[in-house]
Amino acid sequence: MNLQNHISLNSQKRHASRGRRIACVAVICALAVGLGCLSVYTALTVSKQQRLTETQSASLTELESQLQAAQKQLKELEAEMEKAQSDASSDISERDKTIAEQQKTIDEQKKTIEELKKQIAAKPENSTSGSQPGITPPAGVDGLKGKKLVALTFDDGPGAYTGQLLDLLKKEQVKATFFVLGTKVATYPDLIKRMDAEGHEVGNHSQNHKNLTKLTADGVKTEMDTCANKIKALIGHDPTVMRCPGGSCNDTVKAYAKNKGVPIIQWDVDTRDWESRNTEAILKKTFTGSAAASDGSIVLLHDIHKSTVDTVPQIIQRFKQAGYTFVTVSELLHARYEKVEAGKMYYDGCP
Ligand code: NI
Repeated sequence: MNLQNHISLNSQKRHASRGRRIACVAVICALAVGLGCLSVYTALTVSKQQRLTETQSASLTELESQLQAAQKQLKELEAEMEKAQSDASSDISERDKTIAEQQKTIDEQKKTIEELKKQIAAKPENSTSGSQPGITPPAGVDGLKGKKLVALTFDDGPGAYTGQLLDLLKKEQVKATFFVLGTKVATYPDLIKRMDAEGHEVGNHSQNHKNLTKLTADGVKTEMDTCANKIKALIGHDPTVMRCPGGSCNDTVKAYAKNKGVPIIQWDVDTRDWESRNTEAILKKTFTGSAAASDGSIVLLHDIHKSTVDTVPQIIQRFKQAGYTFVTVSELLHARYEKVEAGKMYYDGCP
């Protein structure tokens, strides 16, 4: 081989070795780059996973906390529900109790109604229609039927002439009715007793002769009861009839009378004896004119006037001559009415 060839061969060899080194360096470099990239990638991935794990862990903690809160809420709700159920059952039991009590009351009322129905059914026919039972008639009323009757009534006493009048009535065997005032009872207690003892009727004309229609129900009761109690203390029983002072009457007075069990008595013959104080005038008013006395009349007189008491003998004679029988007011009512009722007003201007 020649030199030239030798140099050329060496040159070729050097070139080859240099190429290999370059290749080796390139490979190493490539490997280094690859490893670097891998490690960066790995680091990034791990970091990302760590972040994810941290996030998930935070979310989990939050969820756990939410769960705990929800469980707590549920327990509270359960407690509330139990309480509500307990309350509801308590309410229901209370309501059941009330219903049972109401049912019991209804049953009792039904029983009462049935008993009342039986009582109503057992009553005789003439006591139905809701009206009150009539006042018991005095003895001997049956014997008065068919007779001409007249009732003399004397108001506002007793007075100074009442004893004289009682003597006269006794002598003539005439029965009358006295509507006495409470203010006079204390002055003439013996006359009140005598009236009752001699068969006359004692009626209530109030304590003070006030206009009863101007009073309250309590006022009427006081006025009437005061007098009634005084009479009762003397004769042993309440007055059986009442007459309103001045004849003034209204529903309040009627309610009192009904409650007291007495009828209210007016009149149909007004003698106006208190006005005339004259025998002729009294006789004229009693026996003449359109308002003259007739069968069943109630005659209004006042025994506090001497003129009236002095006229009574002639009044009695005239009635006797006409065939009249003298009766008390109660006898007259029971002889003429099927039933005499408490609180009812009789003879209000007409018989
Ligand atoms: Ni009077």
